[in-house]
Amino acid sequence: MPTTRGTMRRSLVFILVSGVALSVLVASGRPQDARTQTHAEVDGLALTPPMGWYPWNIFGEEPQTEKLIREIVDALVASELKDAGYAYVGPDEGICFSRGPDGKLVSNLVRYPSGLRGLGDYIHGKGLKYALYTDAGSKTCSTAMPGTKGHEFEDMRAFADWRADYIKIDWCNSEGQDIVKTYSLLAEAQRAAGRPVVHSLCSWGEGYPWRWAGAIGHMWRTTSDICAPGQADWARALRIAFANEKLAPFAGPGRWNDPDMMVVGMPGLSEVQSRSLFSLWCMMASPLIAGNDLRDMTRPTIDILTNLEAIAVDQDPLGAQGHVVWNDGNVSLWAGKPLFDGSRAALLFYQGKYRAQQRITWEEIGFAAADELYVRNLWTHETSGPHAGGFSASVGPGDVAFLRISKTKDFPIPPILVADTYLVSLRAAGSRPEKLAGTVTVLNKGSADLPPWRVDPKSLPPWLSVAVTGSGKSQTFVNTVMTAGLKRGSAHAVVRADNVEPISGRPMSALYYDVDLEVVRNVRR
Ligand code: GLA
Repeated sequence: MPTTRGTMRRSLVFILVSGVALSVLVASGRPQDARTQTHAEVDGLALTPPMGWYPWNIFGEEPQTEKLIREIVDALVASELKDAGYAYVGPDEGICFSRGPDGKLVSNLVRYPSGLRGLGDYIHGKGLKYALYTDAGSKTCSTAMPGTKGHEFEDMRAFADWRADYIKIDWCNSEGQDIVKTYSLLAEAQRAAGRPVVHSLCSWGEGYPWRWAGAIGHMWRTTSDICAPGQADWARALRIAFANEKLAPFAGPGRWNDPDMMVVGMPGLSEVQSRSLFSLWCMMASPLIAGNDLRDMTRPTIDILTNLEAIAVDQDPLGAQGHVVWNDGNVSLWAGKPLFDGSRAALLFYQGKYRAQQRITWEEIGFAAADELYVRNLWTHETSGPHAGGFSASVGPGDVAFLRISKTKDFPIPPILVADTYLVSLRAAGSRPEKLAGTVTVLNKGSADLPPWRVDPKSLPPWLSVAVTGSGKSQTFVNTVMTAGLKRGSAHAVVRADNVEPISGRPMSALYYDVDLEVVRNVRR
């Protein structure tokens, strides 16, 4: 019963997190694990905030089925969201597995007729990444699914076999468990399973994960749920934003504060509120996980979710989280977000009743008072300037002025990647040696060309070679198998490729894809 179970406990956590405990922790400065290697430095994943879609906000758990998730996947591809970088998608707590008598997890074939592996293959075949859900306690939040407690290694193996790329791990029914030890054990189990995944911790701020989770995961929920399933709650979303912004010092590439899935485009939120919420999430370098029904979106909702200039702020390679610089109760100025090209993002959020003129000064956002600067409005897509000393914007109730400010007129977009498949399936059917090739094409929606991707030779088995062709905006990985000498059966490889962002010189999130080879008959020389 997702709406009531755990609600009191999580409300308490939320109050604690947004109150005194939070300010004490933030005042204590850097994360405890700042000097240890982050999880992301090992696997190269989520160096910019993960983007995708998760069902909980709109659907809760009950109606989730393979049919629904496939429809959402199709809508994500058709609606331009895929082209804007949304990649991780899958069921949340959708009653999608149980534990068999041998202790192993099994798919629910009534709700998911292709099984969880089949759904994963469908998602990968669409050039998207597969997100799954579990719980660190004895049962998931609804109590309908088994948690991982006592089965950490076999469950992470099952997720790897289903080809998950992202695992959200909830914290329900975990009474008496040590939170750091439990999530650390799960991370160890994930590594042992051998498949790199984005590890998303979901303790709603309990245990202050921002202090320690960077060493074992990529993102962590900082607050309680943003809404009850089906209905956005603007006041609750704002409480979450203003609690999450205080944790800015803890975020960075591969280690993200997660203020929860977005409610953009959901019932209960106006267009202005959706635009403001999206801007706040981008300003906070939050994971951008859409939570609305992608099959039924208005044009304004699509335009908000796919605004590449706003997404560029979220996906900036420096990974700084913006925060509130001042707040007079009616207006707050959000800044502290330097961007990869020397520009800076700033956001005025207005909660007054009547449209009003708001002013920011250059010093407030980290420039010198004497600077003459260009201002890009990230919603109207207009550039003005140069302006001396500061800038004034007219802002309506509940709305934002979301700006990028620079010494030059150019406002480059950092790399935003779109792949046309993350799954290459090759089948050797004949009895003679063959050369098989399958491709993955990766498009970059950013404004600078990328250097060629470097494929990690350690990720290639002896039967596979990969060449990267093309350059700049579109590069293709040509995967070639020479079947001579191969035995009948199936083989699988996860290919890893790395790149650097050319303007900042920073490593980009590693790109992984699966190659499946099936040799149907014995191939003779
Ligand atoms: C918790 C999480 C939600 C969702 C539900 C599923 O409440 O915070 O995001 O995953 O569990 O039951």
